[in-house]
Amino acid sequence: MEAEIQDSLDRVRGWLAGARHACALTGAGISAESGIPTFRGAGGLWRQFRAEELATPQAFARDPRLVWEWYDWRRGIVAGARANPGHHALAALESRLPRFTLITQNVDGLHRRAGSRNPIELHGSIWKLRCTRCSREHGDDRVPLPHLPPHCDCGGLLRPGVVWFGEGLEPEVWHNAHEAVRSADLLLVIGTSAVVYPAASLAPLARASGARVVEINAGETPLTAAVDCTLRGLAGEILPRLAQ
Ligand code: OAD
Repeated sequence: MEAEIQDSLDRVRGWLAGARHACALTGAGISAESGIPTFRGAGGLWRQFRAEELATPQAFARDPRLVWEWYDWRRGIVAGARANPGHHALAALESRLPRFTLITQNVDGLHRRAGSRNPIELHGSIWKLRCTRCSREHGDDRVPLPHLPPHCDCGGLLRPGVVWFGEGLEPEVWHNAHEAVRSADLLLVIGTSAVVYPAASLAPLARASGARVVEINAGETPLTAAVDCTLRGLAGEILPRLAQ
């Protein structure tokens, strides 16, 4: 098994060394080793709720306080967490490769904390709050927030600056991710179950544009059968070996 992984690592290292433009797409799995629960699988529940039941405009309209309690809980976990070797390895690759674009589905901000300069945050950030009345957005890293649900100076209800199920991605953010992947010759897909769209369409797009796709994941996903190489294991162990 180790010899097999070593072989694959060598192959992917070669692809990285020759890449004119490498991209990485990360999901909750990369932050799992920082102690942040993933959305699906064991540990993906908060109280009796699944993420899909809370991360929606309907849930927020029904019970903004409940949804905010969940976000406040997640903000608390992230505030007490540290970026792990997987995040750091990606920041190291960015500083070393001629062109490297990091795209993340995560809203935790850990890539920035690890030193990644300009991650494309497809689903926004839990450290941003946006007014549902005047649409103003501002950063707020207080943990816990003093009042739930929080309100804007204009009196409107504030919501987390994230993308919920049923909502579209910020057009400019999606455009940037799409264009990066289209021009990439290598895409690393790391720690994502690859089931949430449109993020999940980036790997097929990369392949259709002629790029190699490598999956780094602790388990199997719908993408596994369609990649050029799979590195099975923990992102926090594999990525530092890849970046060596
Ligand atoms: P998921 O929770 O769906 O999937 C996490 C993936 O990470 C799984 O495939 C695991 O096998 C893998 N994994 C777990 N620990 C790992 C580790 N240490 N190293 C490598 N892989 C590991 O998370 P996402 O795919 O990111 O969206 O979820 C996508 C979106 O669904 C999220 O951005 C969020 C969520 O609902 C919104 O909130 C809109």
